[in-house]
Amino acid sequence: MAPRFPTAWLDELRARADIVQIIGQHVQLKKNGRKHWGLCPFHGEKTASFSVDSESQLYYCFGCKAGGSVIQFVMEYERLEFQEAVKHLADQLHMPLPQMESDPDYQRRRTQRERLLACNRDAAHFFHQTLFTPAGQPALDYLKRRGLTDSIIRKFGLGAAPAGWDILTRHLQEKGYTAEELKLVGLTVIKEATPATENEPARPRRAFDMFRNRAIFPIIDQYGNVLAFGGRALGDVQPKYLNTSDTPVFNKRMGVYAANLLRKERHLQRVVLVEGYMDVVALTQFGVPGVCATLGTALTNEQARLLKRFAPAVYLSYDGDSAGQNAILRGLDILEAEGVEARVLDFPDGLDPDEFIRRDGREAFDRLPALTPAAYRMRRLRTEHDLSTQEGRTAYARACAAILSRLDPVERENHLQELMVHTGFTRDVLIQQIGLSIPQGQQTAPQIVPTRMRPRQDSPAATQESRDEELLISLLSTQRLPADIVTEEDFSDELLQELFRELTAGASPATLVEMQGDEVTRARVSRILLTPPTEDMDQMLRMAQECINRNRLKRATEEFTALSRSMARLEGPEKSAALLRAQQLSAEIRRLNGSRQ
Ligand code: UTP
Ligand code: MN
Repeated sequence: MAPRFPTAWLDELRARADIVQIIGQHVQLKKNGRKHWGLCPFHGEKTASFSVDSESQLYYCFGCKAGGSVIQFVMEYERLEFQEAVKHLADQLHMPLPQMESDPDYQRRRTQRERLLACNRDAAHFFHQTLFTPAGQPALDYLKRRGLTDSIIRKFGLGAAPAGWDILTRHLQEKGYTAEELKLVGLTVIKEATPATENEPARPRRAFDMFRNRAIFPIIDQYGNVLAFGGRALGDVQPKYLNTSDTPVFNKRMGVYAANLLRKERHLQRVVLVEGYMDVVALTQFGVPGVCATLGTALTNEQARLLKRFAPAVYLSYDGDSAGQNAILRGLDILEAEGVEARVLDFPDGLDPDEFIRRDGREAFDRLPALTPAAYRMRRLRTEHDLSTQEGRTAYARACAAILSRLDPVERENHLQELMVHTGFTRDVLIQQIGLSIPQGQQTAPQIVPTRMRPRQDSPAATQESRDEELLISLLSTQRLPADIVTEEDFSDELLQELFRELTAGASPATLVEMQGDEVTRARVSRILLTPPTEDMDQMLRMAQECINRNRLKRATEEFTALSRSMARLEGPEKSAALLRAQQLSAEIRRLNGSRQ
C-alpha cells in the first residue's frame, strides 16, 4: 500500500501552498472582487468562468463545475494520483517528505531509485548524442530510411547504441555509476570470470553493454523519468527489438511507451493504443494526437487505468495480423472491466499502423471506422462461422445474442438490424434469444452517454431551503461566526450535516473538499465553500440569522400543518401531547415571523 502522509504534515503543505500562486503558474489569473479569475484549463472557453479563491484555498469553474483544493488541482492538471500530486507540490515548495526523515529503509530505496533514474537519464543523453556522431551513423541512416524526420527523432529522444562492446558501460562508470548499478538498471551485462581450462585461457570478469549497434527508443514515464530502453536491430538481426527487462525502476506491465508525450496533451478525446514503438513514432509524425503503446505485452489492467487518466476513450489500433486481432479481444475485455470506453481501428491488408499511414496517409487514417466493441466482436464471430449454412447462421445468431444482451437498448438496436440481415432470423426471434423483450414503440430509448463524457452534474441548489443551508455552511467555513447559533438540525441534507460537524470540529475547507470521494460531490462542496458573498461581520451574522430563521420557520410550519391534519385521529394522552406540541410550534412560528419584520 502507498504510504500515508501524516495529517499534520499535509496541513502544513496546504498552508504553504498558495493556491493562487500555484494555479497562476498554469492559468493567467486576474483579480476581480475577492477572487481571481481565468480561463478554465479543464474545458475550452473564451470567457473566464474559472475562479480561484485565496481565502478558502479552493478553485471552482462555473462552466464545467470542476472544483477542489490545490492538491486536487495538481491531480487534475498534471494527471497525478493523490500521493504523486502531494509529492509534486512538496517538491515545488522544498518541503522534505515526512517518511524520508523517519524511515531509513525508505531513504535507502529512494536514494537507489534516484541513482538508477539518473543513470538512465545519462544513458539516454549518451544514446541521443551518439546518433549525430559517426558511431551513430548506421542507426541514423536506418531511422531516416524508415522515414523519420529530425524533429520527430528529437521529440522522442531517439538514439544510437554504438557497435563496440562496452562504450556506454565505460562512459557511465566514468560518471561514477558502479557496475552493480549498471547491471541492476539493465544497461550492462556481467560475464563472470572463468578459470583456465585445457582449451581456454582464464578470463577476467567483464562488463558488456546490453544494447549494441541498435536504434534506441527511450521509455519515459509521465513524470519525465527515463525508465528503460527498447533497441531496434538495424537489419535482420534477432531479436528484432531488445528491451530492458523489469528493474527496480521499471515494470513493463505498469506503463506505456510515450506516456511523457501523452501527459502534455490537453483535452484529449481518445488515446490511440498501438503495439509497436515505430507505430507510435510514425502516427505522431503524421500528426495523430494521443498515441502510445504497451511495452511488448498484452494490455494490463494497470495500463488501462493509467490511460483512463489521459482520455475518456481508448482506441485499440493493433496490427492487422492475427496476433494483433486476438490481442484486441483481450484488450476489449480489460478496458470493459476497467470501465474505459473502447473502440477498435481495424487496419486493412494485415498492415500495422506505421505501414498503413505511410501507404495511405493521414486522411485515410482519420477515415478508418471506429468500431464499437460489439461491432468488432460480431465481425470476428462472422469469420468463425459459415454463414452460408443454416447451422452456421444459428450458431452465429446465438453467439451474437450473448454479446447484444449486455448492451443498452440503443446500441442493441443498431446491431439487431445487421444481425437480422446476416442470419435471416426475425426480430422477435432474436430478441427472445437475447432474453429480453423490448416493447415495440419504445425502441428509441434515451441515449446512454459514457460516464466520463457526461458533464459534471453539480448545479446550484434548487430550493430556497437548500440555498439557505448551503449559504450557512459557506458562512460557517470562515470560522468567524459563533458556531452555536446553528445546530446540526438546521440542515436537512446529510452531506451538509457532515460538513457542519467537520467545520465545527475545526476542519479547513480544503480538507473537507479532499475528503469527498466522488467528483460530483467534490464539485458541489467546492462551490459551497468558496468565499461567502460578504466579509462584513455584521452582514454575515444577519445573513446567517435570516437563513436559519427562514428554514426553522419552514420546518415549524410544515410540522404544524401535519400535526393539525392528524389531530382528529388522535385520542387520550397522544392527543394531549400533540396539542402541547402544536402550541409550542405556533409560539415558535409567531416568534420567527416577528423576527422577520
Ligand atoms: P512487431 O513485430 O509488430 O514490430 O512488434 P513493429 O513494431 O512493426 O516494428 P518494426 O516496424 O518492424 O520496426 C511490435 C512490438 O512488439 C515488441 C516491440 O515492443 C515492438 O514494437 N517486440 C517485437 C519485442 O519486444 N521484441 C521483438 O523481437 C519483437
Ligand atoms: Mn512495423
